[in-house]
Amino acid sequence: MEIASACTIKPAVNAKGLVRTYRRGAEQIRALKGIDLNIQCGEFVGVVGHSGAGKTTLLNLIGLMDRATEGSLSVLGHDTARRGVRFDALRRKNIGFVFQEFYLMPTLTALENVLLPTMWGKARDMTEIGSAISDRVPSRQRAAELLKLVGLGQRMTHKPSELSGGEMQRVAVARALVNSPRLLLADEPTGNLDTVTRDGIFNLLLALNRDSGLTVIVATHDLSLESRFTRVVRLEDGNVV
Ligand SMILES: Nc1ncnc2c1ncn2[C@@H]1O[C@H](COP(=O)(O)OP(=O)(O)OP(=O)(O)O)[C@@H](O)[C@H]1O
Ligand SMILES: [Mg+2]
Repeated sequence: MEIASACTIKPAVNAKGLVRTYRRGAEQIRALKGIDLNIQCGEFVGVVGHSGAGKTTLLNLIGLMDRATEGSLSVLGHDTARRGVRFDALRRKNIGFVFQEFYLMPTLTALENVLLPTMWGKARDMTEIGSAISDRVPSRQRAAELLKLVGLGQRMTHKPSELSGGEMQRVAVARALVNSPRLLLADEPTGNLDTVTRDGIFNLLLALNRDSGLTVIVATHDLSLESRFTRVVRLEDGNVV
């Protein structure tokens, strides 16, 4: 099974003077203050820094979930500032995102949750998701393979409430891989997990990078993981230091 699509664009991520300012009424919060960043295909990059440093803000920009206030950002060769760029289509095809809070659908099984990203646009609402999923035989096979890969071959029909935290996180990793991404982004994927489970998730991401050449960017405030990245980008108060 092919885990990732080839990433051949150089660089995979290129940011220059990237600024993200949040506005809350009269207040302005400069979460990113002018970031320069180059990430090559095949890298395993840790974005580290204290709480509030801007890690999630940066990942959301790279993951095409948000737009920069100023500066330039190209992701897999696409200039994100260009008018008419369809973020959702680009993201769906190229980027897997693992959220800190998993965002699994409580009413769906592990397998169905992994299949969710293949469904958008095919079901009109959540009530149609179930039947849309059962029509997708090739995707279903892939989702099952991915669950086996993350060690959940025996948990496919479990709902999130019937899974442990680490298992839910692994479902989230499998889901991020279902569309064969070129780039995997993970925001605090080991956030609330015990050290053994944390190492399991981390080793899984490492193996995906090493064995499938998947470009992986992980945001974490866990300093004990730092030495294991091929490169660390340190954020402090909205700047790379
Ligand atoms: N939607 C928002 N509106 C206003 N301010 C925000 C918003 N999102 C984040 N911020 C602020 O921007 C700054 C950077 O936030 P961000 O979530 O990127 O930090 P982080 O490094 O991911 O922190 P953590 O380790 O706690 O997850 C913080 O000061 C935060 O309060
Ligand atoms: Mg964060």
